[in-house]
Amino acid sequence: MSRPAKIPATLITGDGIGPEISEAAIGVLEALGNPFDWDEQPAGLGAIERHGTPLPETTVQSIRRTGLALKGPLTTPVGSGFRSINVLLRETFDLFANVRPARTIVPGRFDKVDIVLIRENLEGLYVGQEQYIRVGDDPHGAGMAIGINTRSGSLRIARFAFDYAARHARQKVTAVHKANILKILSGIFLDAARQVAADHAPRIQFEERIVDACAMQLVLDPSKFDVIVTTNLFGDILSDQIAGLIGGLGMAPGANIGPDAAIFEAVHGSAPDIAGRGIANPVALMLALGLMLDHVRLHDSAKRLRDAIDSTLSSGVKTPDLGGTASTLEFAKAVAANL
Ligand code: NAI
Ligand code: MG
Repeated sequence: MSRPAKIPATLITGDGIGPEISEAAIGVLEALGNPFDWDEQPAGLGAIERHGTPLPETTVQSIRRTGLALKGPLTTPVGSGFRSINVLLRETFDLFANVRPARTIVPGRFDKVDIVLIRENLEGLYVGQEQYIRVGDDPHGAGMAIGINTRSGSLRIARFAFDYAARHARQKVTAVHKANILKILSGIFLDAARQVAADHAPRIQFEERIVDACAMQLVLDPSKFDVIVTTNLFGDILSDQIAGLIGGLGMAPGANIGPDAAIFEAVHGSAPDIAGRGIANPVALMLALGLMLDHVRLHDSAKRLRDAIDSTLSSGVKTPDLGGTASTLEFAKAVAANL
């Protein structure tokens, strides 16, 4: 019997803790039986040093060819400097949906968090339309940003969220907005969500929440939420908040999905404060790998990976961010042993 052909996929290990957590995640994948034929490509701050650009054309070509990538975090300079490569990758490949599932593995403040946040990934205040405005003598006297939500983009993300809910046997979709204040920008998104919700009633329940109230309710009782759909910036903020409900950023994976490509990553960034010390938590990137296995319909492998992560954490092997003492690679070895 011939072995099934490996699935071409791009690997970007990224900046900061990226190489450490990538090594850990790839090691576990090898133990699981790696189904991917990796094409490792540079991006981010590290790529500037070696290739003179944060997103080399070879990297773009590779993702165009494979339509599938696992990506470590990429550092973006704050304020000045180049635009986020994460945002550029999302735009380049029309990755309009950012799916961020969060569930309790290590019971902490909350025992039963199981929320999937679906974030519109291309519009809103992320469109990069910013400018300074002169005030008197000061050319930088004011800052201005334009947010753009389109009807088509809002309908596309709302449909994606309800289809996701239907496919994953979820009960409820909550649209999160600020249409009481941003009546047009946020209103166009809310209208689209209502329209799509009507197509799915009564099978999938629909709720609306104003973003500030949503933030509070998430902290008081996260079990009230199932699938959340929201615009770009609110999704960015709420997904870090939700990660905090389940033990922190080290636990939260994300999938960037478009019509022709998908890029899987951790929700967290390059964590420069702990980079190079071998103590980063690789769970988020491992769970991202789990989402990637699901995406290519290797559901059994994805489940084995998740179960091994669960049993490793339950046995008390944890990295320092979760209160443990295991190094990144010690944790990965324990997961591999639990497969
Ligand atoms: P961050 O997520 O890198 O770190 C925030 C805090 O969480 C830090 O204290 C860090 O040590 C901790 N942390 C994050 N991931 C962890 C892990 N796996 N294990 C243990 N602790 C972890 O956010 P920050 O510091 O705001 O951003 C750093 C850089 O990352 C920036 O350049 C930012 O633009 C970039 N970034 C990239 C993302 C991506 O590539 N998708 C997403 C978010 C930020
Ligand atoms: Mg973020």
